[in-house]
This record gives sequence, structure tokens and C-alpha cells, in this order.
Amino acid sequence: MPNVKFYKNEDLPLEMHKVRIVQKLHLVPIERRLEALKDAGFNTYGLSTNDVFLDMLTDSGTNAMSDNQLAAMMKADDAYAGSQSFVRMKQAVEDVLGKQYLLPVHQGRAAENVLVRTFAKPGDIIPMNYHFTTFLAHTLEVGANIVEILHDDAFQTTSTNPFKGNIDIDKLVKFIEETGVDKIPFIRMEASTNLIGGQPFSIANMMDVRRVADKYGLLLVLDASLLGENAYLVKQREEKWKENTLGDIIKMMTGLADIVYFSARKLSSSRGGGICTNRHELHQKMEVIIPLFEGFLTYGGMSVREIEAIAVGLYETLDETMISQSPTFIKYLVENAESKGVPMVTPPGVLGAHINAAKFCDHLDPSEYPAASLGAAVYLCGGIRGMERGVMSSVRDENGVEIPSDVELLRLAVPRRVFTLSQMNYIVDRLEWLHDNRKLIGGLRWVYEPRVLRFFLGKMEPTSNWPHRLMEKFREDFGDSL
Ligand code: F0G
Repeated sequence: MPNVKFYKNEDLPLEMHKVRIVQKLHLVPIERRLEALKDAGFNTYGLSTNDVFLDMLTDSGTNAMSDNQLAAMMKADDAYAGSQSFVRMKQAVEDVLGKQYLLPVHQGRAAENVLVRTFAKPGDIIPMNYHFTTFLAHTLEVGANIVEILHDDAFQTTSTNPFKGNIDIDKLVKFIEETGVDKIPFIRMEASTNLIGGQPFSIANMMDVRRVADKYGLLLVLDASLLGENAYLVKQREEKWKENTLGDIIKMMTGLADIVYFSARKLSSSRGGGICTNRHELHQKMEVIIPLFEGFLTYGGMSVREIEAIAVGLYETLDETMISQSPTFIKYLVENAESKGVPMVTPPGVLGAHINAAKFCDHLDPSEYPAASLGAAVYLCGGIRGMERGVMSSVRDENGVEIPSDVELLRLAVPRRVFTLSQMNYIVDRLEWLHDNRKLIGGLRWVYEPRVLRFFLGKMEPTSNWPHRLMEKFREDFGDSL
């Protein structure tokens, strides 16, 4: 965040970039939005961008790229093997993440597949701060499972805890003692813990986890997809690191991990991924799987142009004005929505603003998928596409019974340098209206529920004609407004 003070001390996030290429947006009338929702099976993944005004589904592959990234894409070296583009990415990984060996993969979940296939066996349990959807799915596919070891207050949506992503060390030790190291392939830490509202962990906590890993001879794996933001929040919130650069903080965190993997769709505002380590034997163990699923070792399923963009994007992760843009916009959105009574996850995290759907829709039963219902309602009233991060994004137990979600959230992603401040104000306006009319929001039920990662392709339907009633109320209050 640049140090620019306003005359009247207003707390505004100031953009430190200018916009030189724009994409026109369309806000279709609410009647069309209702039709689009029906076609989408009331699942925001099913919407076409032609019907979406503000696309806040994800930051994955949707961050704005820089002029330097686009320029680098023009000099890409197209070769199946030995491409110089890969040499540049490898150098950037070494410079920024401090790891010498790099395996390229087509995106973050491909890295998860490689890791789980290499290190986990049926019956294993992987301890972590919190799961990510695709990591969990890959783990279950090989017959292993995960355990989440956060502090008890991590699921309190309204909180002042600056590091809700911290692992509870006592619980971790207890888990290892009870389970036995033979059943634990590695400990996983996820930077800016996505599913609990983009909440970071502290370096002090990661150091403690490292000590435990050393004591028991376990590997520590870092999911660095949202590492830049975690580093930014460490600088903001962890006294000891206030004066350090983002580069120092990032290197400190990656240095504590044996293996670091990332989705480049997030980390470097491009499209691809990687797994890196300084341990040759670990690199060799994973290497054999790359040609099977990803491609040759110097492209891993990525286009060489994207590889060039990753290299430049990794260096740009060290630029605080770039990394702070999304978190400061999120903070603005969260604080303004909260001031209008909308229940938001606090402290504001990264990736997006998270709405506590369980509270927003406290008249709905958890079995009616409150966060998915809220996602449909937010789209209907504002053309704003968010993503359900609650029970719909999770899994059923072995008897087919829904497991209550730890948190029931609707995430409104704020990709880097994509939206303007007046668009944030529009979102706050529509959220306030919807909150005032929240009792009109009804539930959803499955029409089609896929076996794996059901939230991507699943289809739902409303349990009553509430979407229609919500639309009528919108027309009553907003007249002929879009
Ligand atoms: N790890 C984390 C922490 C992520 O947030 C993601 C993706 C992945 C791994 C998987 O990476 O998509 O490149 O395969 N998160 C996106 C999201 C999908 O919208 O939060 P991927």
C-alpha cells in the first residue's frame, strides 16, 4: 500500500497503475438474469460471461496482467524440449522462491495430483491448516484423507485474530503422536487459507510447524498459490517483519518448506503452475509423473507464452503496490458492506470479500444450501457472480450424509487491478438492498450432483419460486434500473 495520505484522512485504496486496455461490460436486465440463472442450474459456474456484469467468481487466471508480462509473451521460445522460456521461469523461481529444482505443471491442482500420487498411499492422513477443494479430491482419489488442525477460533467469522490460518501446534503434535509418522506423508500449509476467507498464517507459526516437522522427520509442503498476499499481511500484521521487504518474507516462508507448489493462475497472474524444491531426491521422485500427466519437463502442459508471463509475474510479486491492490480493495469492500449491516468475514482476508451466508440467510436451514442460495440471489439482484464456499463446495460422508460446513461463505473475488472503486460501491449498494430483503431468499436443492467436485458441474433448483419474488421486489424498488 503506497504511503499517500488524504487531506481529510480518508482511508481510500489508491490505484498505482493506469488502465490501457479495457473490456466492455454488459449489465443485462434482471428478467434476463433470472433466465440465465435457470439455464445455469442456479450454479454461478454455469453462467455465461455475456450475462455477468462483475465477474467475481475467482482470481484464478483473471488477474490483470502487466505491460511487461504481455511484452515477455512475445519473445517466447517455442520448443517441446529445452525451451529458453522455461530457463527464464526456472531462474525466476530460484530468485523469488529460493528453490533450485522446478517441475512445471499445467495448473495448481496438477501439482496436487503429482504430490499426492508420489507421497500418499491408501490409509494415509495429511495434516494441514485447511484443505483446498482440489487437494482434498486428489487425496480422496488415492484412498488417503486429510485432517485440519486450526485453532478453535479460526471458524469465528467475526474476529480480530490476524492469523486465522495458523496451525494449532499442540493439536498437530498430538495428531502425529496418535497417528504415527508412517501414516503421514507430509504436513501441508496453505498460504492465505482460501476456504476460511483468505486468512493468512504467521511466520512464527510456520517456524513452529517446521520444528515439529524436524522433530518427527516429516516433510513440510507449502501451497504458495496465495503466497504474495500472505507475505503482504505478514508485513502488515506481524510486528517482527514490519521492516522487511516482501522478498525477504517470501524467501523466509519458502525456505521453511521442503516442497513449494503453486497455481500460477494466482501467484503470478498468468496460467500454469509449478512444484519446486532444493532437495534433489524429492525432485526426482516427482519428476517421473510429469510426462505422464503434464507434458515434457520444460513445459508441463503450459504454453511457452504463459511460461514467460509467469517468469515476469513472479518478479512482480515482490512489488508491494501490485500485491496490495487486491487486499486493500477487499478491505474497502468488507468495511463498507459491514457498515451497512452485511455480515462479512473479518478481519478482511485476501482473494475476495467473504460474506457470512449462514448469518445473511439465517432463516434458511443448512440443508437448503444458504451460501449457494445467496450466490444465486447476489447474481440476480446485481449481475455480480460470486462463488459458493460452504457445504456445496465440500463432500458428503461415507454414508452420503452432508457434513455441516465449518463456515458457510459466499466469496466475491477481487482479482488484481481489474475493478474500480465505483464498482465496489455498486456492490455494497446491491448487498445492502439484498440484506434488507434477505427474507425473500429461499433455498436450493440438487437436480444433478456429480460424484467428484460437485460444485463445478452440479445443477440445482429453487425450493419455491423465491427468485421470481425477489425479482418483483427489485422492480418495485428500482423501477426500470438495470
Ligand atoms: N491451491 C489453492 C490455495 C487454490 O486457491 C487453488 C485454486 C488451487 C490450489 C488449485 O489451483 O485452480 O490452478 O488448479 N483456486 C481457485 C479459486 C480455483 O477460485 O480459489 P488451480
